[in-house]
Amino acid sequence: MKNFNFHTPTKILFGKNKVSEIGPEIKQFGSRVLLVYGGGSVKKIGLYDQVVEQLRNHNLFFVELSGVQPNPRITSVREGVRLCREHKLDFILAMGGGSVIDASKAIAAGVNYQGDPWDFPMRKARVENPLPIGTILTLAATGSEMNGNAVITNEETQEKRGMASDLLKPKFSVLDPVYTFSVNRYHTAAGTVDMMSHLFENYFAPGEGTFVQDSIAEAILKTCIKYGPIALEEPENYEARANLLWAGSLALNGLTVTGKLMGDWATHAIEHEVSAIYDLTHGAGLAIIHPVWMKYVLNEKTAPKFARMARNVWNVDDPNDLSAAEKGIDAIRKFFSSLGMPATLSEVNIPDEHFEEMGQKACVFGPIGTFKRLNADDVVAILKKAI
Ligand code: NZQ
Ligand code: ZN
Repeated sequence: MKNFNFHTPTKILFGKNKVSEIGPEIKQFGSRVLLVYGGGSVKKIGLYDQVVEQLRNHNLFFVELSGVQPNPRITSVREGVRLCREHKLDFILAMGGGSVIDASKAIAAGVNYQGDPWDFPMRKARVENPLPIGTILTLAATGSEMNGNAVITNEETQEKRGMASDLLKPKFSVLDPVYTFSVNRYHTAAGTVDMMSHLFENYFAPGEGTFVQDSIAEAILKTCIKYGPIALEEPENYEARANLLWAGSLALNGLTVTGKLMGDWATHAIEHEVSAIYDLTHGAGLAIIHPVWMKYVLNEKTAPKFARMARNVWNVDDPNDLSAAEKGIDAIRKFFSSLGMPATLSEVNIPDEHFEEMGQKACVFGPIGTFKRLNADDVVAILKKAI
């Protein structure tokens, strides 16, 4: 296990009606709020009214930025930066899923930066002095509510890129499982796949002696396997929604990668190229690509780690590492399909037309992946196997 610093400063307000506590939390950091949300689900579930009431009760001035789309666009970010400057806002409150939270982080980074906020994902600028943000999460998936990452799409160049800074970790996040009751089957399934994929990314990574981290990842995976299907069948099952919600935060708050140099993240890089061009739901893209990536990188050297997961999480009873690994990967594919997620790119009408371009773009900053290094040709080969 390598040395590490682990700092998760986000205060989690978990449970029913926790939104009633946001006023004093915001006031610790600011008094003029940019309220960011997506396409209207927050109004349908009554969250919008509750938040506005809290802001008014605590005399907090606010301006709204609505309409942030899934796979959030840099145009929304630019508009948010403009609003913050025009109204001298000093706090950002995101209410929604990962897309709304990610857009809010990029806005936070952009307000005190003189250049274009697209510079952050393009690695041309470092985040300095961002506005503080708080979040009210409505969809269990990305972990954005408890990490410093944001993924933004530039619709003009058809690029989807990540940015990360510890400074962008939210000051607080409200996790009320009741707000996730209304998430439909498709997004519940995609969210479950996404959090499982985050666990895979950090599990299948180089590093020795991280038994506790990997065992935590296995426990969170089992949580997804137990409660994902229940949430699909019983959307208002509080226990299922609560466990998934907390699982999503724990899956990508840095916990399971501690003691390792870094996770793999090749599958995410490849998926981002697919959704950049085809605007596919992130979790659906991962459901297609992650098992393909696993088979692609499986060999004598990587088999023991795949076999460990197969035995501990997927109940595979096979003493041979290579065949146990194969069976584990097949079980993952089967589980994703049982959630109603696609297994091939053809199923979501994605042809092979842009594979070369995706390969080049995925490796624009160099080869990807740490468990096994992949170049543009590898990415194309994986995409071809996913068709
Ligand atoms: O726009 P609204 O009306 O809110 O509808 C959303 C959206 O259509 C809807 N939704 C959210 N909460 C709901 C709800 N519908 C009914 N009831 C609710 N309570 O769900 C749809 C999808 O929302 P979105 O925010 O896009 O989903 P998700 O949370 O999965 O976020 C996906 C984005 O996050 C990025 C992805 O690439 C993608 O752009 N990621 C961010 C990460 C991070 N910051 O750490 C890591 C991830 O790997 C991921 O890349
Ligand atoms: Zn993800």
